Amino acid sequence: MKELSVQHLLGIKHLNKQDIDLIFETANHFKEVINRPIKKVPSLRDITIANLFFENSTRTKLSFELAEKRLSADVINFSSAQSSVKKGETLIDTVNNILAMKVDIIVMRHPNIGAASFLAKNTNTKIINAGDGAHEHPTQALLDSYSIKEKLGTLKDKKIVIIGDILHSRVALSNIYALQLQGAEVMVCGPVSLIPKHIKKLDVLVETNIKKALQWCDVANVLRVQHERMDINYFPSVREYTQLFGINSALLKSIDKEIVIMHPGPINRGVEITSEVADSNQAIILNQVENGVAIRMAIIYLLAQQIKK
Ligand code: CP
Repeated sequence: MKELSVQHLLGIKHLNKQDIDLIFETANHFKEVINRPIKKVPSLRDITIANLFFENSTRTKLSFELAEKRLSADVINFSSAQSSVKKGETLIDTVNNILAMKVDIIVMRHPNIGAASFLAKNTNTKIINAGDGAHEHPTQALLDSYSIKEKLGTLKDKKIVIIGDILHSRVALSNIYALQLQGAEVMVCGPVSLIPKHIKKLDVLVETNIKKALQWCDVANVLRVQHERMDINYFPSVREYTQLFGINSALLKSIDKEIVIMHPGPINRGVEITSEVADSNQAIILNQVENGVAIRMAIIYLLAQQIKK
């Protein structure tokens, strides 16, 4: 049986093209499963998974939980707001206490960059990074790539622009790594203040004119402005941001082709994207969410096979 080259899923940076192909092949199978009347397989009846969310989440948390339940794993959920972290317990102590309850895999979202890697180094369990600060969000990037491949047939030589708040985005970095591994060309577009200074070192194109970016691409992945990670103003006003970088129907009609529109969610309707575009046939936003369950089932299944060996 084919195996992942990694023992944890900490970031796309640690994966190779064969890993992504294996995850997608496995996800194809699970996508078929979750579209059956009985959407469940008994594969992980002997595995227990803890979902640790130290930051808010709707899609990622529910998608992981559903993926685990579809695989018949036992699942426990932890949210920092209702936990003893509030009483001063450290991350390592929290996790070691959870592991003492015979947990096999930890899925963790944490506001600090490197938190997932820290746990992988300092605890004896499998770790899946569900987003660490503004660093990586590997399952989001995998489901994004999978959704583009499903729509366009391949990633090879496709042109993808990531639009908006690149500076504070873990989705952007993971997408850049994942798309490039699969042979896509990547551009970032947004206000200069929201584009990291050294981004060109990642071999991406940089554009500040939204119309030129849309004209160039096959796919536009639109990001939310992450106000919660901002301690200063990066642009004069939300209204100005929307005027210069918001995706609306008039802008899409002004380019001479139909492109695919993506968004990782949560959407701020009327800010980075209008409702008309988000709800249009050009947008594959809910396909991304559907594919997220199959992708997460694939990752959990592949990592669990390493435990069972
Ligand atoms: N895309 C994403 O990570 O959404 P949530 O923050 O709701 O999990």
